Amino acid sequence: MATMAFRDVSKVFGTGARARVVLEECSFEVTRGKLNVLIGPSGCGKTTTVNLLAGYERATRGDVTLDGQPVHGPSWTRLVVFQETALFPWMTVLDNVTFGPTVRGMMARRAARDQALSLLEKVGLKDFAGRYPAHLSGGMQRRAELVARAPAQLHRPPRRPGRPPPPWVRSRLTAGTR
Ligand SMILES: Nc1ncnc2c1ncn2[C@@H]1O[C@H](COP(=O)(O)OP(=O)(O)O)[C@@H](O)[C@H]1O
Ligand SMILES: [Mg+2]
Repeated sequence: MATMAFRDVSKVFGTGARARVVLEECSFEVTRGKLNVLIGPSGCGKTTTVNLLAGYERATRGDVTLDGQPVHGPSWTRLVVFQETALFPWMTVLDNVTFGPTVRGMMARRAARDQALSLLEKVGLKDFAGRYPAHLSGGMQRRAELVARAPAQLHRPPRRPGRPPPPWVRSRLTAGTR
């Protein structure tokens, strides 16, 4: 059975006198299809562990693997549902969901829109496609985030990797920072 695994993983933040050992020779396996729960007091390293599995952080020592392959960085095959929202607040739910595939040049906007509406219907959010994230409950936001990062969309390789985002995408990326 496929697994995510930690083998003798240590994680140290900082160096010298400021070094803080957060994980020390930690080993476990997460089996696909099983619910795994990580419990511990605040600051014990739960988020750090998830960040290492996601590839957002690198282990100081030891191996982090998925199906035996080393985790070197973030990947579409490992989705993280964050505690805080990961939706762009200035875009509608539909625009949030179509943003990834269109910015990566995977799909035309029309095809991305059709697929997004079908995925949103599956999670009961079709009627909220035109609403903004602030109008959704926390649970609805998490579902929208899952759809926005649905592997079915993202497993397709970009048609033109390295192509800069089109102007309409650039204006949307910067809209919220103005
Ligand atoms: N990027 C970082 N740089 C320095 N220290 C960090 C960093 N991330 C987390 N830490 C420290 O690592 C410890 C574990 O943090 P974290 O994994 O977020 O804990 P938990 O999620 O269990 O509450 C905390 O003491 C935190 O301050
Ligand atoms: Mg945490």
